[in-house]
Amino acid sequence: MGRAAGSWRGAALACGLALLVLGGRAAALDNGLARTPTMGWLHWERFLCSTDCAREPLSCISEQLFMQMADLMVSDGWKDVGYEYVCIDDCWMSTTRDDQDRLQPDPERFPSGIRKLADYVHSKGLKLGIYGDVGNKTCAGFPGSYGHYDLDAQTFADWGVDLLKFDGCNFGTLNQLSEGYRNMSLALNKTGRSIVYSCEWPFYMRLLQKPNYTEIKHYCNHWRNFVDVYDAWNSIKSILDWTAVHQDSIVDIAGPGGWNDPDMLVIGNFGLSWDQQLTQMALWAIMAAPLFMSNDLRHISPQAKALLQNKDVIAINQDPLGKQGYRITKENNLELWERPLAGGAYAVAVLNRQEIGGPQTFSFSTSFLGNGLACNPACSIQQILPTSEDWGLHNWVSFLNVEVNPTGTVLLKVVVIGESPGEMPLMNIHKKKSPDIL
Ligand SMILES: *[C@@H]1O[C@H](CO)[C@@H](O)[C@H](O)[C@H]1NC(C)=O
Ligand SMILES: *[C@@H]1O[C@H](CO)[C@@H](O)[C@H](O)[C@H]1NC(C)=O
Ligand SMILES: *[C@@H]1O[C@H](CO)[C@@H](O)[C@H](O)[C@H]1NC(C)=O
Ligand SMILES: *[C@@H]1O[C@H](CO)[C@@H](O)[C@H](O)[C@H]1NC(C)=O
Repeated sequence: MGRAAGSWRGAALACGLALLVLGGRAAALDNGLARTPTMGWLHWERFLCSTDCAREPLSCISEQLFMQMADLMVSDGWKDVGYEYVCIDDCWMSTTRDDQDRLQPDPERFPSGIRKLADYVHSKGLKLGIYGDVGNKTCAGFPGSYGHYDLDAQTFADWGVDLLKFDGCNFGTLNQLSEGYRNMSLALNKTGRSIVYSCEWPFYMRLLQKPNYTEIKHYCNHWRNFVDVYDAWNSIKSILDWTAVHQDSIVDIAGPGGWNDPDMLVIGNFGLSWDQQLTQMALWAIMAAPLFMSNDLRHISPQAKALLQNKDVIAINQDPLGKQGYRITKENNLELWERPLAGGAYAVAVLNRQEIGGPQTFSFSTSFLGNGLACNPACSIQQILPTSEDWGLHNWVSFLNVEVNPTGTVLLKVVVIGESPGEMPLMNIHKKKSPDIL
C-alpha cells in the first residue's frame, strides 16, 4: 500500500484507498477504558531508576515524588486539560516479595505503602499507574510477575491501582511472552477493577516474530512498538521514521480502547529545541498517541507548559473518531502528515526535517488532503502550532504555502465546509502566510 510511497498523488490516492479497504476495526480490550488516548505523567524518562534518596532526595523514586507531581497536576492546570494518570515506572519495588509472595514497595522510599499513595492520588481526583514485568525480573532487576500474574493483578487491584504498565524484559520464550501478556490481561479483568493495561508486547515480540495486532488489541489498551524515547531529537526522529515506515500495519488497528504508544513526551526537559518540542507535541497528536509526560512539573518553563497544555492540540489528540494519522508523503526533507478527525475534519502537520539553513516553504494543493475530500468544496483552515492563527477559507484547488523552521512543525486543522462536492468555490478571504487560490 502506498502511504510511504514517494509520489504525491499516488500516495494520496493509495492512502485513501487503503483506509476504505481496511476500514473495519478490530475489537478492543473490553474494559471500557482508554476510549481516547490515555493522558498523564510517567516517571521513567526524566527520573529513571534513581533509588538513592540520601544523595538525590528530590529526584529519587519515592512516594514523595509522586505526591508532589499529583499536587502540581491539580494546582498547575494539568488535570484541567486532561492529564489524569500519575504513573510509577520501574524501581518502585523491594528486591524481594513479602512472606505471602506479594510484590511490595521499597520500604524506605514508599514508607506509607502503595495503597496510601493511591488514596492520596485519588483524593486529588487523579488516578495511579504502576509498573510490572511479564518475565522473572523487571528491566532494572526487581521481581517480575512470571508465575504470579493473578496474585500481582489482585495486589494492584487491592491497592487501588488504575493503570499497569507491563514491561517485557527477561521474557523467556516467545510463548511465555505472549501467554504472559494474555494471562495478565485476564488476571486484571478477574479482579473486577478497571485498570488500564499498557503493554510492551509487540516491541519485544517483534525481535522474533511479526506481532498480531488484532490479538494485541484484544488484550491491551495501548502497546509500545519501538525502543524507549530519550531526550534528544534523534530519538523523536527515529520514532517518527519507524512509525511512518510501519504505518500500513499499525495505523488501522488503532481506535477507541486500543492505541499504538510511541512512548513518553519529553517536552520540558533538556534535549529538544523549541521547534523540536513543537514537533513532538504535534506529531503525538497526529499519531493518536497516549500522552504521558516525563518531565519535572516542579521545574518547567512557561513555554513548555503552555505547549503541553494547548487545548487545541489536546483536542486533536483526543478526537472522538479515534483514527490514527499517517504520513502522506516525504519529499526533500519535508513531510506531510494528516489525521482524520470527527465531522470530516483533518489535522495536518507539515514537518521540516532539514537540519541546515532556515525555514523552508512547503507548497501543496489542498487536494492532497483527506484524499481530496478535506477541502471539497471548501474548508476553513486554522493554524494550531506554532501559534494559533486563522488562515481563513480555501477550496479544493487552493495551494498552501507553509513555512516551517528546521526540525519544526506547523500543525493545522482543516474543517470542511459545504456538503456537495462540485459546489462553487467560496471566495478566498484569507490573509497572510498561506496561499492564494489558483
Ligand atoms: C472483563 O471482561 C468482560 C468481558 O470481556 C467485560 O464485560 C468486563 O467489563 C471486564 N471487566 C473489567 C473489570 O475489565
Ligand atoms: C523463570 O524462571 C523459571 C525458573 O528458573 C523458569 O522455569 C521460567 O522459564 C522463567 N520464566 C521466564 C519468563 O523466563
Ligand atoms: C497462562 O494461563 C494458563 C491457564 O491458566 C496456564 O496454563 C499457563 O501456564 C499460563 N501461562 C503463563 C506464562 O503464565
Ligand atoms: C491474529 O489473532 C486473531 C485473534 O486472536 C486471530 O483470529 C487471527 O487468526 C490471528 N492472525 C494470524 C495471522 O495469526
